[in-house]
Parts: sequence; C-alpha cells; structure tokens
Amino acid sequence: MPLASQSTGIPGGVAGQPRYIRAVSQAAGGWETWSWDESLFAGAARYYEQGRLPYAPGLAEAFCRSLALDGRGRLLDVGCGPGIVALRLAPLFEAVVGLDPDAGMLAEAASAAAARGIANTTWVRLRAEDLPAGLGRFRAVTFAASFHWMDRPRVAAAVATMLDDGGAVVQVLELTADDIVAKVFSLSSTAPHLFGDRQQDYERDLREILARACAPGRFSVRLPDNILRIWRLAPT
Ligand SMILES: C[S@@+](CC[C@H](N)C(=O)[O-])C[C@H]1O[C@@H](n2cnc3c(N)ncnc32)[C@H](O)[C@@H]1O
Repeated sequence: MPLASQSTGIPGGVAGQPRYIRAVSQAAGGWETWSWDESLFAGAARYYEQGRLPYAPGLAEAFCRSLALDGRGRLLDVGCGPGIVALRLAPLFEAVVGLDPDAGMLAEAASAAAARGIANTTWVRLRAEDLPAGLGRFRAVTFAASFHWMDRPRVAAAVATMLDDGGAVVQVLELTADDIVAKVFSLSSTAPHLFGDRQQDYERDLREILARACAPGRFSVRLPDNILRIWRLAPT
C-alpha cells in the first residue's frame, strides 16, 4: 500500500510571528497553555531525530505487553513529529495515523517510513484541537512529548470519543524526580556517603530545584553517546 499523506487546513496558524502563552487557566489544570503556530518547530524537523533524546529501546515491547497487542487495530500518534514513536510501533498495528500540524515534521515522517519500507502509515496535517476530524476509532492513542503543547482538556475529551472498546490513551513521558534523585545517588561522584549527615538536606534542595524547573515533575535527561574504543594487536 503506498504512503498516503492527507492535508487539512490549519486555521489560525500565524507564520513568522512569535508564539505566545495564554494566561494560566483553571481549565488547563493551572498550567500555562500554548497556542500552536507555524513557528513552533519551524525548520526543526530534519534535526529532530538526531538531536533529541532517544526513546528507550524496549518501548515497542513495553507497549505490546502492557496493551496486550496482537497486531490488530489502529494507532493514532498525536503530535507525531518526524514519526519516531509511530514508526517504532507501526509493526504492532494494522494501521498507524501520525498527526501533527507541522508540514516539515510530516514530510520527515513520510520519508522515514518509505526508507524503512513501513507501508501501514498515514500522515495527517492537523492540530490535535481539531480532533476527532472523522479519523475513526483507534485501539491506542499516543502522545509522546506532545500533550503539554495542547489544549489538554479539549484534546482529552476528543480522543475519549475515538477509542475502540478497551482502547487506551498512552502518554510517553520522561523521567520523574524520583528517577533523577536515584540517578544522582547512584553515581560515584555523588554517592550518599559523600554527603555525610547532610544527604537529606542535599536531597531536599535537589527536589526543590527540580520542582521549580518543572512543576508537573517530568524531566528529559541527555544520555551519553557510546564510544566503542577498539583495540587490536599490532600486526607482527
Ligand atoms: C516535542 S515534539 C514530539 C514529537 C514526537 N512525538 C516525538 O516524540 O518524537 C512535539 C510535537 O507536537 C506537535 N504539536 C505541537 N502542538 C500541537 C497541537 N496543538 N496539535 C498537534 N500537534 C502539536 C509539534 O508540531 C511537534 O511535532
């Protein structure tokens, strides 16, 4: 089946103007809300996969196990960007719809799908706020590092009407504050014994800083590259 790319209009996209934060609202759970416009990720798509944190290698296996997937049903990946998660999960579903308002992201996704011979994907140019948009029903709907950009109550209400019986909405998130505290204390350079009787003070300060940096408590951590240093015997 050839790749299909469907475009729909995006009312209100303001090319060339800075995006803005609307007032923090009760409806958004006290979080600031963003209004998408063409500048949000403009030009970022071709740098995205190389530049962003990789998702865990076991992501697809975790999905398959947790949702008891059997190859049937459809996946909707909302805010799919260049399709990293959608393409990783594509073999687990009959069909995958990746949705994003950024044309550059969708172009990257379509060409990555073609390059890998993944033929069960469709890329839809649309804001999540315009769902359900006649896209039908899905066994799973994913938001990978994207839900925070959206009008969450509105989008959540829309996707709730789009699930198959027993279907699930899955947010793919990063580390929690507990994960980061554990990571710090697992390192030799910040091992607990080095703090003596001030370990609790340090942990309290660290948690305060993390809470100030991100109130919802989800963090991305830059993983190190792996360098393979290969040694061989010199020829004799
Ligand atoms: C941080 S990227 C994540 C991309 C991809 N899900 C991943 O994990 O690699 C966020 C994506 O959300 C998209 N986005 C932002 N606002 C959106 C909205 N209102 N509706 C749908 N997608 C949106 C952006 O265009 C961008 O591609």
